Formats: sequence, C-alpha cells, structure tokens
Amino acid sequence: MKYSAVSQADQDRVEEEERRLQWIPSFRKPLFYLSLVCLWIVVFFAPLLAEHYDFITAKSHASIPSYSHLATHCASVSSIPASEFQQRQQTLAEMLHALNASAYIAEPGASALYYGNISGSAWHLSERPLLLLVTPEIARPSEGAAEVRPKISVLTPAFEATRAKLLPVPAEQVSYPEWPEDVNPYEVAVSAISSLVPEGKIYVDGAIRHFIVDGLQKAAPKARVLNAPVEIRELRERKSQRELEIMKCANEVTVLAIRAVRARLFEGIRESEASGYMHDALAAAGLQDLFYLVLFGENAALPHGSGTDRILGKHDFVLIDCGGSLHSYQSDVTRTFLLDDSSVNDEKMALWNTIKAAQAYALQTARAGVLTRVVDQAARDVISEGANVQYFTHRLGHGIGLEGHESPYLVGGSNDIIQIGHTFSDEPGIYIEGKVGVRLEDCFYINNDGEAVYLTQGVGGPARNPWSP
Ligand SMILES: *[C@@H]1O[C@H](CO)[C@@H](O)[C@H](O)[C@H]1NC(C)=O
Ligand SMILES: *[C@@H]1O[C@H](CO)[C@@H](O)[C@H](O)[C@H]1NC(C)=O
Repeated sequence: MKYSAVSQADQDRVEEEERRLQWIPSFRKPLFYLSLVCLWIVVFFAPLLAEHYDFITAKSHASIPSYSHLATHCASVSSIPASEFQQRQQTLAEMLHALNASAYIAEPGASALYYGNISGSAWHLSERPLLLLVTPEIARPSEGAAEVRPKISVLTPAFEATRAKLLPVPAEQVSYPEWPEDVNPYEVAVSAISSLVPEGKIYVDGAIRHFIVDGLQKAAPKARVLNAPVEIRELRERKSQRELEIMKCANEVTVLAIRAVRARLFEGIRESEASGYMHDALAAAGLQDLFYLVLFGENAALPHGSGTDRILGKHDFVLIDCGGSLHSYQSDVTRTFLLDDSSVNDEKMALWNTIKAAQAYALQTARAGVLTRVVDQAARDVISEGANVQYFTHRLGHGIGLEGHESPYLVGGSNDIIQIGHTFSDEPGIYIEGKVGVRLEDCFYINNDGEAVYLTQGVGGPARNPWSP
C-alpha cells in the first residue's frame, strides 16, 4: 500500500506540474525538462516498486510456501573425491589391459569428466584437440606379479598448456604432451601411448568427433582405432554408492521443487509464468544446468512442448518435466497433476491411472539380468490394455548420470542387459494431439540385490494421484 500511495502521489504531483508548465513563460523551461526527467523516473521505477510490493504481500501470506526448504535438502551431499577418480582410472587401466588395448581416449565431456574431471564446460571443444589419454602401464616390482597402473596424459595445444595444466585432474601424476600449431596433434598423441604395440587397439569414447578418430588412425596406421566396447562403457554406466547418493538427492529435490511450485499455481496462470516459478525453485534447490518444461491441457500432447503460452483452466492437467545437476549428476522428473480445486473428466482420469500403472509395472519388471527391451514392453502391455498404445510414442526410458540421457536405454529392439548400478528413467506417457498429454517420470537404480528402487523414494517416490504428485 505504502509504495503505491507514494508513487501515485508522485505521479499526481508531476502531472500537475506539467499542466502548470504548459502556460508559463519560456525562461522557466528548465523546470519543464526537470519534471520530464522526474516523470521518466517514476514510470521506470513503478514496476519495480510494484514487484517489491508483491513480494512483501507474498511473504506475509502463510499459505504460499517459500523455496527455502529446498536449499538445505542436498547440503550434506558431497562431490566425488579424488580417491574415487583414481579408483576409476585404475579400473579402466585394468580393463584396457584385460582387453589387450593400448589406450582409451576421450574429449572433454561426460567420459573425460568421469575419468579425469574434465567436463565440456571446463574446456570447450574447438578445432584444436585437447584429449584425455589413459594408458595401462605394467609395473614389474622385483618380487610378485606384474601390476597394471594407469598413466594419465592430457594432450594440449602448446599455446594453451598453461590453462590446460590448471584443469583439476585428480590423478597421482599427469603428463601434458603439447602440440605446437604446425605439428600434427595425433602424432604427438600416439607417441604418448608408451604401451602401443604396432597392431594394438586404441579405444575411443563414443562421443569423440570423427576428425579426431581419423587423425589418430592416420597417425597409427597399423593400430586399430575403435569405439570403446561395452566392457568399458559399463564402467561409467554402473554407478557407485557415492554417485547414487548424489543422484538420489538431485532427484528428490526436483520432486520437492515441483510440489512447491504446484502450491503456487492458480487457474488463469500462464505457462511462461509457471516456468519462471519452476526455474526459481530449481535454482533455490542449488541445482545447475536447469531445464523445465511446463505444459497445460492439450499442450502436453506434444512431448517436448508446443510454443504457445497457454492459460491454465479448471479442467486442465499441468505437466512439468524438469531437472538439473548436482555435482554434475543429472536429475529428471515429470509430474502430470491437477490443482487442489481442479478436475478432469473420467476419460482423462483413466489415462492418468493407466500411465501410473504402466510406470509401476515397468519398475516391477526391471531387475538385474533382464533385457532392457523387456521393461519397455512391460509398460507398453499395460497401456495397450486400455487400447491406447499407439499414443505412447517414445521409448520408456533412458540411462542417466553425468549425461541427462546416456546408455543403456529402455527401448524396444535393444539387447542390453540390466545390471547392478544401472540407472534409468521410467517415463511412460500418452499423447493425444489436440486433446491431452500425460507423462509420469521417476528415475530408478538397480541395488546390490538386483532390484529396481526409485531414486525419488526418499521423498515418497512416484505420484500417488493427480492431486498428490
Ligand atoms: C573437479 O573439478 C571441479 C571444477 O570443475 C572442482 O571443483 C573439483 O574440486 C574437482 N574435483 C577433484 C576431486 O579434484
Ligand atoms: C589378449 O592377448 C593374449 C595373448 O597375447 C590372448 O591370450 C588373449 O586372449 C587376448 N585377450 C583378448 C580379450 O583379446
């Protein structure tokens, strides 16, 4: 009240001044310009004052929750320590040795982050390769069996060497082979692979760019440069206890953020405004790399959004698909829900219940040793009982970890086998264009007993009903 009264009074005063100035002689013109400036200031600050005013009333309103509880939820979860990075390097070196491979090479990105803490944001890709190389070295102590140790190298453009050495690579020792601008970087890389036998194998990460594979192959014509096989991919796919602790918290706090946003929504709100709330809640939760998709009613029939900015009606589902990263591990949660005083017809409610049943049945089906495609089919079987399976247009789920979507996938046609430590999204959906869209998504992991457990279990797991997401 206070603020709007002041700004109104100011405005009145300025307007009166203006009227007066219209009739006064020209020698008082400076005053006229001064009042114009005042008017401009009032107009400029009025929205800010209004926002401040809103904020104050919102705070005094007990029914509107703040996001402060989200900030503390993951405060005690720590990032991956150096010792775990070194364990990963050791395991990789032993696997390379067992597979008779001479090296593993990755560009900055999820795999280089996993083994060497070099993310794609810590070092942006350019035409100049910077590569993480892990080679197995055989140490032969005077007595006892031969021992495999990882040798970590970071191939760096020579003029960027100082910056490359600042990358926090957690290893006992790191070497930095440099390539000057006029030297072939791949020859420098190949000469850094001390264990390379003429017809050896060099494994590369699946996300490496083709010109780098090409360059390596030309620099080592007798060696074979190959995509890293499943034995190596599995090392990153299967999560450790520490990784799971981070992922549980990231997914839990994402659910809490959706629930906190739901409490603030109202009939008539726009999708864009609700998206803003979602951004604020995820940011308050301390997550990074945020994404949030908010769709109302029939807009939710397009799984990745519609481009309109719809208003929420009394008989609309709200679909929110969102997440972010905690210590580089991604979360991904979708809820389709109703506000406390809204409802949908029986047909739409039946769709919601079918999706809930499909999600639950998929989780029951998933366990260590089962083919990933069997779990996808389980969800499809439940949906086809309601004869709606043609509207379930995408795969059931994706692996998740340092990447939002990573291998393996819960998808028809896949021969991948579910293993202990695997993490997947379980996200059946139904999309009837122009009408309705429902998707429910919780990620789960396979525990040491081989059973599937939701990463969101700590905050109650999946949605119970449309009013209790
Ligand atoms: C990994 O890198 C991040 C910055 O990108 C740094 O904050 C963190 O301390 C590093 N971790 C280790 C174990 O060195
Ligand atoms: C590795 O090489 C050894 C002998 O050189 C061979 O006995 C073994 O089968 C090879 N292992 C693989 C996985 O290729």
